[in-house]
Amino acid sequence: MKNIVIFASGAGSNARKIIDHFKGSDLARVTLILSNKADAGILKIAEREQIPAVLIDKELFFRGDTYVKLLQEAQADLIVLAGFLWKVPANLVQAFPGRIINIHPALLPKFGGKGMYGHFVHEAVLAAGEKESGITIHYVNEKYDEGAIILQERCAVSVDDTPETLARKVQVLEHTWFPVIVERLLTQ
Ligand code: GAR
Repeated sequence: MKNIVIFASGAGSNARKIIDHFKGSDLARVTLILSNKADAGILKIAEREQIPAVLIDKELFFRGDTYVKLLQEAQADLIVLAGFLWKVPANLVQAFPGRIINIHPALLPKFGGKGMYGHFVHEAVLAAGEKESGITIHYVNEKYDEGAIILQERCAVSVDDTPETLARKVQVLEHTWFPVIVERLLTQ
């Protein structure tokens, strides 16, 4: 059985989809959840699902090996960033080469980088007059949103879209594809 570790700081809807996808699977389980926000929805989900959860200490995250050790002890096979907004420190990236992935709510390399998350992304896509948006699932490297792309899926942007309606279209793609890609990476 493989171990999936999820980093999340938001509502946790993607994390929930991944947890549900692997319930009853003999391939993998979500065995640990980390969050940097004490009030993140994902922590409530973790409690309900009886999945161990850790609130990240910022000082320790960016200095030293605390979290590298924690993830090694957890025998993490795949580390999934699902709405986690901090840059992953180099020592963590290097300890898990090709085993950390992220989802971004736009078609990278456009609309990525620091500060580009959630509604800011959708507002920027609309302001730029884009005809399409979508999702990018990619490997994590030391730079924000720049690791090798694993999958992109697209949706149309219409003239009457708002950040909220676009967010919903993108979220449908995220919920459809993220669990599938996690499974694919664990089986290949
Ligand atoms: C998702 O839309 C994800 O793509 C985005 O945060 C949201 C988390 O939603 N991530 C980024 O913007 C990363 N730059 P969730 O907490 O409901 O899964």
